[in-house]
Amino acid sequence: EYYLFGMALSTEDKRKLLHNKWFKDVKLANGLTQEHLEGFETFAVRDDDVFVASYPKTGSTWVRQIVSLLYCDADPEKDISTYKRFPFFERYDLRTQAPVYKTIEAAPSPRLIKTHLPYDLLPRDVRDGKGKVVYVTRNPHDTAVSFFHFSQGNTALLTWDTFDEFLNNFLGGKVSYGDFYRNVLGFWKHKDDANILFLKYEDMQKDLYKVVVSVADFLGKKFPEESLQRVLDHCRFSVMKNNPRVNYEPLARKGILDFSKSKFMRKGIVGDWKNYFSAQQRETADRLYRQRTLGTGLHFDFEP
Ligand code: A3P
Repeated sequence: EYYLFGMALSTEDKRKLLHNKWFKDVKLANGLTQEHLEGFETFAVRDDDVFVASYPKTGSTWVRQIVSLLYCDADPEKDISTYKRFPFFERYDLRTQAPVYKTIEAAPSPRLIKTHLPYDLLPRDVRDGKGKVVYVTRNPHDTAVSFFHFSQGNTALLTWDTFDEFLNNFLGGKVSYGDFYRNVLGFWKHKDDANILFLKYEDMQKDLYKVVVSVADFLGKKFPEESLQRVLDHCRFSVMKNNPRVNYEPLARKGILDFSKSKFMRKGIVGDWKNYFSAQQRETADRLYRQRTLGTGLHFDFEP
């Protein structure tokens, strides 16, 4: 199951959403139609398009910040807000009454695009090797904790009162954007495709320099050492937390996120799940992890 969310939803909308129509195994958010989903498939990709793809809360903003800087001469002064630089492909835009990809169609190159779509719903051109995709993922336990906090007071997502309730739904694939493993495994299968770069949040924590260099190489961007250091400095958690171009403050001001419940730049660490999981929850989540990754070669670090 895969829920697509396009806009701020009232409680009533959210209830209705649960009874919406299905397309493949995708539940359509208000606004999005089957025709729009078919439009994802036929979207004309350009060779110089860059998609940053991810399941929510796995480090998309961090990766977008790196890519954004690589596309503005590694000069933070030239950077613009990530919301403008990376239009959100499948989001429904209330202003234009259409999904954002319709606006992207006419945008000048190079186009940087954010998406939470699973691999099989990406444009056909991407799956045929056109354009580039930087995919990022994160261990599912920390992803769940981050997602629970992000959902609190978030008008655009399904919300739960307790972590226990949220985790049950997360493990069952019944949260906004659906099943974590469906998303990750879809991209994992294609991790060696020439137009896909597969990253892990934990590796970024361990050695951000190495990751920045691999992203730059993948995107064909060459920079002197000094510029790469500037990118690194600008991508530190403490810097991004105070940077309104990436810290989601504008969405809090619009009332879409409630920062009094949880800041977007919350903790930015590996292993915070230990502060939330009970022994029982850990056992259940570990078992699912083992089952779903068995034989795939995919593994995550759960410790710093
Ligand atoms: P936490 O909630 O665990 O703090 P996404 O951008 O995909 O929504 O992911 C958000 C998560 O990435 C949040 O995790 C956020 O704090 C973390 N994050 C964002 N920028 C970061 C950075 N520079 N360093 C470490 N973590 C970062």
